[in-house]
Amino acid sequence: MISDATLWSSLPIPAFLIDADDRIIEMNSAAEGFLNSSRKSVLGRPVWDEIAIDAPIEGAFARARRDDAPLFVNDIDVGSGNRAPLQCGIQVAPVAGHPGQMLLMLSPRELAGRMTRTHSAKSAAQSAIGMAEMLAHEIKNPLAGITGAAQLLSMNLVPEDMELTDLIVGECRRIVKLLEQVEQFGNLSEPDFHPVNLHDVLDRARRSAALGFGAHMTITEDYDPSLPMAWGDADQLLQVVLNLLKNASEAADSTHGTIKIRTFYEHSFRLRRSDGTGKTLPLQIEIIDDGPGLPPAIRDDIFDPFVSGRENGTGLGLALVSKIISDHNGWISVSSAPGRTVFRLSLSRVPRETKT
Ligand SMILES: Nc1ncnc2c1ncn2[C@@H]1O[C@H](COP(=O)(O)OP(=O)(O)O)[C@@H](O)[C@H]1O
Ligand SMILES: [Mg+2]
Repeated sequence: MISDATLWSSLPIPAFLIDADDRIIEMNSAAEGFLNSSRKSVLGRPVWDEIAIDAPIEGAFARARRDDAPLFVNDIDVGSGNRAPLQCGIQVAPVAGHPGQMLLMLSPRELAGRMTRTHSAKSAAQSAIGMAEMLAHEIKNPLAGITGAAQLLSMNLVPEDMELTDLIVGECRRIVKLLEQVEQFGNLSEPDFHPVNLHDVLDRARRSAALGFGAHMTITEDYDPSLPMAWGDADQLLQVVLNLLKNASEAADSTHGTIKIRTFYEHSFRLRRSDGTGKTLPLQIEIIDDGPGLPPAIRDDIFDPFVSGRENGTGLGLALVSKIISDHNGWISVSSAPGRTVFRLSLSRVPRETKT
């Protein structure tokens, strides 16, 4: 029989034993290698000071401990003070017979797999947008020429043929609209940060939805009236909410559907960045609809540009949303099942020194 110590040190992936106060009480040699620090210098230190995770995982971690249940999270950037973040799978398991103690294991994805999947997918999306922006700019001019020519032509045509010029004009307009959406990316500047009353933003979005694309929807609100001001760019956040309301309206049955807009405060919602800094994102907005839910084929990619589940979709709405939220250092998540789709935005409060 081999000893526990031998087993522990032969484990080929970084593993940490954590006590009930989230301190590291043991680690194996793979973990030393991962952190690039010696076991001696790390033991007793708070785990989240040594391991920086680019996702709000502490809540899930606490839940796993409370429920005495294992937790798996895939594809997360894990960094430490001493080295650049690596994409890892994370596994957490309670230790039998030692209440509160948890085993934390990291499985870094080997570089090759990482490069081909996430990394290149991201930069491909990035260059696809750059390319599309350039094209958008170049196509708009000749398109204006085509539209103008078709309109001139239509003045001398018999009514039957005018149908064709109308078609040309109509389709050109559609292309221009798509191009304008692409250009929105290029024009998107850094957020102009100010204190923002989120309920004002939501009311504005709600009103324009009710007058236009969301006229067939019943929109209800469930606001936390004591919600503090957010720190952000009101116009950009309005674009975000409009896009989410639009998607919910488009997903619904063409005659009716329900959208609930909910706000609440969640003090414990924290985001850990891979550079080790933490950030509290306590302001929550949820846009909840009772439509059919995300199409399964694209549900993992909806935030990527040009991914659309709709016939006339551009796939740019959620890509824009995710760009704006990430510029706000916020977080967006979605959970979806037929009959209930929830997009949640998590934003930060006005920083203390600028409080008004
Ligand atoms: N609330 C929702 N319910 C169901 N599907 C949704 C919802 N929001 C987004 N989607 C899906 O995500 C896709 C991508 O959305 P988006 O990026 O806004 O592009 P577009 O609206 O142009 O298709 C949509 O085409 C749709 O299939
Ligand atoms: Mg959309």
